[in-house]
Amino acid sequence: MSSLVSPGIETLRPYAAGKPIEEVTRELGIADVIKLASNENPLGPSPKALEAAAAALSGAHRYPDASAHALRTELARQHGVSMDELIQGNGSNEILELLVRTFTTPEQHIVFAEPSFVVYRMAALAHGVPFTAVPLRNQVHDLDAMLAAITDKTRLVFIANPNNPTGTHVGQGALGRFLTAVPDHVIVALDEAYFEYATAADYPDGLKNRGLHKKLVVLRTFSKIHGLAAFRVGYAIGDAELVGYMHRVRAPFNVGIVGQVAALAALADTDHVSRSRELNESERSRLAAGLQNLGIEPVPSQGNFLFFEAPISAASLYDALLQKGVIVRAFAGAQIRVTVGLPAENQRFLTALGEVLA
Ligand SMILES: Cc1ncc(COP(=O)(O)O)c(C=O)c1O
Repeated sequence: MSSLVSPGIETLRPYAAGKPIEEVTRELGIADVIKLASNENPLGPSPKALEAAAAALSGAHRYPDASAHALRTELARQHGVSMDELIQGNGSNEILELLVRTFTTPEQHIVFAEPSFVVYRMAALAHGVPFTAVPLRNQVHDLDAMLAAITDKTRLVFIANPNNPTGTHVGQGALGRFLTAVPDHVIVALDEAYFEYATAADYPDGLKNRGLHKKLVVLRTFSKIHGLAAFRVGYAIGDAELVGYMHRVRAPFNVGIVGQVAALAALADTDHVSRSRELNESERSRLAAGLQNLGIEPVPSQGNFLFFEAPISAASLYDALLQKGVIVRAFAGAQIRVTVGLPAENQRFLTALGEVLA
């Protein structure tokens, strides 16, 4: 069958999602499994979002609003942009893919960092677009090297800020210099999936940087701090003409009605967002201190997760934690990423880790 697909698709491996709790319960017979593997909000969705979602179920026989009008109107109002500068996505994941499909061809080129969100590489491979993966420098995006990797053929640069899996961020100074210097023929996709969790004083708001580069597209999601990962809602803001091309390419009903109304209600529940941010900030510090007590130095993180070098092989550490009912994420480069959970979950992780390393 390999003759049916492009060389890029032939080398593509399916996205390795965090192991579901049910699967570990089933396979290992452990009752109280905790999942700290997919950077989800441990507080769950806003109760108001759930109420709105439940109320929308009786309309399930109707196609959803194809333009997500109410949601886009509110997002545009909150961000002070016009509606035609805004596109909704089936998760921000779909918008990443849309950027590749809409603006690149196999004759062109994409730049992203390594390690960074794996979907950038997957989308480039799936569409046969050559790419350069620029290594992080001291775990941070090396924007100078990324700038140097841009050629006449480059059409798209992905920057995750904060980065997944490291949790590191680029500051306003570095981002500003990059956006000022980046050539006009390049779209910069600034992926701010973890925007709300960032607390560093120099963490830049991508939307405030739009004046520095006309072709800057800023992506946000309802999957992280809003706790709506299962509903698949994300969005992007950029130049109206550029966003218009993505609207041409996207599937007509890309976000379901339950996701649309839940996201709208979640936006209004600012208390839930604040609670989630505060919990993450205090538990992120406590988790980092707990790791340090075990002799592990996590990478300083602006996200809702911590990334660290595994003191034993990452695969065996992952397995040993799994046996204790704790799901984390192991990376090929011998690192582990753990999501900041509820206080009791973080304690359970630290205790399990301590036992494994004893
Ligand atoms: C950096 C980054 N971007 C985008 C996404 C995709 O999120 P979603 O498609 O759920 O909006 C994720 C999810 O983990 C992520 O880590």
